[in-house]
Amino acid sequence: MDQYRVFGNPIKQSRSPFIHQSFARETKQELNYEISHVELGSFSEAVNNLIMQGGKGANVTAPFKIHALEIADVLSERARLAGAVNTLTFANGKIYGDNTDGEGLVQDLLRNRVSLKNSRILILGAGGATKGVILPLLAQQPKSIIIANRTLSKAELLCQQFDDTKLTAIGFKETANHTFDLIINATSASLSGDLPAISSLIINNSVVCYDMVYSKSLTPFLSWAQQQGANKVIDGLGMLVGQAAVSFDIWRGVLPAVEPVLIELRKTLAAE
Ligand code: ATR
Repeated sequence: MDQYRVFGNPIKQSRSPFIHQSFARETKQELNYEISHVELGSFSEAVNNLIMQGGKGANVTAPFKIHALEIADVLSERARLAGAVNTLTFANGKIYGDNTDGEGLVQDLLRNRVSLKNSRILILGAGGATKGVILPLLAQQPKSIIIANRTLSKAELLCQQFDDTKLTAIGFKETANHTFDLIINATSASLSGDLPAISSLIINNSVVCYDMVYSKSLTPFLSWAQQQGANKVIDGLGMLVGQAAVSFDIWRGVLPAVEPVLIELRKTLAAE
């Protein structure tokens, strides 16, 4: 049976085996997908072991996404620009690296009927999570993407790297001077229960707020946005399933439906 893994540290909490096994059932594909805990400094060894055992591919999560970029022989354009790889494919004696995170986000937004064409997008944060989604978001032809970060210089650097006239960098305070259709929280603030220090003036009844993080109850950012009267709040569970669906398609040549798995995951999360 074709073997796949998700490499990470920590990895015990990963939902990826559940997601990929569900996709396999749904699309009638025979494959085995398991978690693999990798010690820091042992990433290439873990990948080589999987290749030697005839593995076909792997997902890569924190903290190895940059290592994965470094060991890939061939990189997709979106992985190169994201500066990170979350999907490895082993074929023709080569390691192919791709990044499906941004496509996962775009697919989830479209599935939620959020229009992206000509929209004014605000992304909060300028770390790896933001970098991974810029190219796929730009491909949807928004009117503008403003990147606001607590540390302005990091947002400026990111804009320079992408060098696209639709991109602008600002500090959190300056967000109050703009109007947005979509606000994406790509900071890691929700993970520590924090709220990025942005003005409530940017929330109104036509704005959609998205948090790349998900949790059992609303994240601090989404709960705040809801209280301020946002039109719609969406968490990152659909992005997680969406990025997995794009990886599955790369490996198996079939794009599975996201919705049934998402419903199951939401139930599991609520019961935990
Ligand atoms: P990731 O790969 O998840 O993006 P990262 O590269 O460490 O992680 O980036 C974390 C991002 O979250 C950064 O933009 C960080 O802001 P700074 O560059 O100013 O550090 C942002 N961040 C983390 N905690 C935050 C908080 N409490 N409020 C606002 N921004 C926060």
